[in-house]
Amino acid sequence: MTKWIFLMLAGNFLNPATQNEAPAKVLYSKHCSGCHGDNGDRGKFGARNLKASLLTDSSIVKQISKGKGIMPSFGKRLKPEEVQLLVKYIKSLRTL
Ligand code: HEC
Repeated sequence: MTKWIFLMLAGNFLNPATQNEAPAKVLYSKHCSGCHGDNGDRGKFGARNLKASLLTDSSIVKQISKGKGIMPSFGKRLKPEEVQLLVKYIKSLRTL
């Protein structure tokens, strides 16, 4: 029985999909959801609806690193790998 639980946990831990998803979600909740909301459509301070965003990957990277208008720049606070995780994560919120 304990052996099965261990195998299930290990399987989950080793699955690359879950490995990427968790930190991206944590990063998003920490840095972005205050304005964009958990689902991307909160719109606080005029934050764009990420569910309906059509930006390309490179424009998203630019937006996150440099900021725009009220949105602060995260270039100094996030590592390039973290920005990439966020690009992937916010695209997964799209409902287009
Ligand atoms: C202080 C509030 C605030 C925070 C925090 C914030 N944003 Fe934004 N975001 C905005 C605002 C406001 C805009 C619209 C900027 C404009 O076009 O003037 C925006 C726009 C965007 C866009 C452009 C969408 C489009 O289609 O034009 C993306 C992508 C984005 N934010 C991602 C993020 C990510 C990822 C994070 C976390 C790393 C984040 N934002 C954190 C306020 C915020």
